[in-house]
Amino acid sequence: MAVDLVVVGLGYVGLPLAAAACEAGLDVVGLDIADEVVAGLNAARSHVGDVPDSAVAGMVAAGFTATTDPAVLAEADTVVLCVPTGLSATGEPDLGPVRGAASTAASRIRPGTLVVLESTSHPGTTEEVVRPILELGSGLRVGEDFHLVYSPERIDPGNERFAMHNTPKIISGCTPLCAKYGVAFYGRFVESLVVSRGTREAEMAKLLENSYRYVNIALVNEIALFCDRMGIDVWDVLHCAGTKPFGFAPFEPGPGVGGHCIPVDPRYLESKARSAGFTFGTLSAARAVNERMPSHVVLRATELLAGRGRTMSGSRVLLLGVAYKRDVADTRESPAYPVARGLLAQGSAVRFHDPAVSEFAVDGRPLRKEHRLDEALDAADLVILLQDHSCYDLIELSSSGCLLLDTRGRSAGSAVTLL
Ligand SMILES: NC(=O)c1ccc[n+]([C@@H]2O[C@H](COP(=O)([O-])OP(=O)(O)OC[C@H]3O[C@@H](n4cnc5c(N)ncnc54)[C@H](O)[C@@H]3O)[C@@H](O)[C@H]2O)c1
Repeated sequence: MAVDLVVVGLGYVGLPLAAAACEAGLDVVGLDIADEVVAGLNAARSHVGDVPDSAVAGMVAAGFTATTDPAVLAEADTVVLCVPTGLSATGEPDLGPVRGAASTAASRIRPGTLVVLESTSHPGTTEEVVRPILELGSGLRVGEDFHLVYSPERIDPGNERFAMHNTPKIISGCTPLCAKYGVAFYGRFVESLVVSRGTREAEMAKLLENSYRYVNIALVNEIALFCDRMGIDVWDVLHCAGTKPFGFAPFEPGPGVGGHCIPVDPRYLESKARSAGFTFGTLSAARAVNERMPSHVVLRATELLAGRGRTMSGSRVLLLGVAYKRDVADTRESPAYPVARGLLAQGSAVRFHDPAVSEFAVDGRPLRKEHRLDEALDAADLVILLQDHSCYDLIELSSSGCLLLDTRGRSAGSAVTLL
């Protein structure tokens, strides 16, 4: 039985892709190594915030299945790899899942198959890592027997305006013919396609997009630290600067940078640059600032408690919002981890409230989850707003009388202290 598309890796990127392709009428199968992911999807249960259970139910009704059996790859016209590109224990790029998924596909692809890599990675990954694995394992030649494309995902979890269909997508091929096949495939469910000169340009463009965010967040974080030192209201500064209609893109300071992409992707760029004897000064400077933010939050928290004649030791601290981003459930690389670690190290009793996050543990030590916000606020000596999920009524929070450290600059009132 032929299948239009096999999506390899059904996470935050792969599942929305599978959903968009299903909606466009393609026959889609999802392949993942995680049994629980596959079982959940086949039972119409989503594990990805942007794809509700009802959407998965619709996919299943349209014929979508998920499997852990790679044999399905032999049936695919198109195979898209959406596997993680994280960091090793030493902070270096970990291409293990990309290599693993490419090897799994290599022995199964047929002449004519289109293989796409969507995972974020450094320039050269498609040509120097994925291509040789596929060619050696299949005995087929890229551009002659099968087609290889790199097309970085631009998904923005929680974004209600831009989804897959209306976000321009970069397509790059190992050969012009490969790119043509890529355009034909994505053109079925993405409105605007941008063909880059080659795969390295597309890989680099993705790293530029995320490094741009990383560096600009670092800049406003450092501006915030300086304003704090000088007694300048950074939120008013940002408001005023943000009114300039040209030449200024607004970014916001915060307790640190989280998620699977923004703090991780610059590492891929730095690592590749290092291997080419090139040093990225802006990225390492940005990292130094961004990684300083959680300890600044802990310092401000300590000062606030001291202002009430308390020490951190023995104080009850409530963290509001431990996810890395507003209105998402994802805690990967969340600054809530280093903040909680810093508070615990000083002997405070730390609890958390986050409607979307069921469990939150720091170094294997689970924090108690608070379900009733009003009771949790009453019981806390200090409340730290780390993520301004839309469920938090900032006016109510400001007037609740609690000692509040607002790292997002959303609240107002005399009991409120901004970052
Ligand atoms: N999450 C985002 O917002 C986002 C945005 C743009 C790009 N990206 C990039 O997309 C890629 C995927 O990220 P994600 O957030 O979807 O990751 P994820 O961790 O949510 O999902 C990855 C899935 O791949 C599966 N997997 C791992 N190895 C596999 C293998 N060898 N074969 C089959 N399945 C395998 C895992 O079980 C998991 O279900 C990464 O390179 C990431 O940098 C992510």
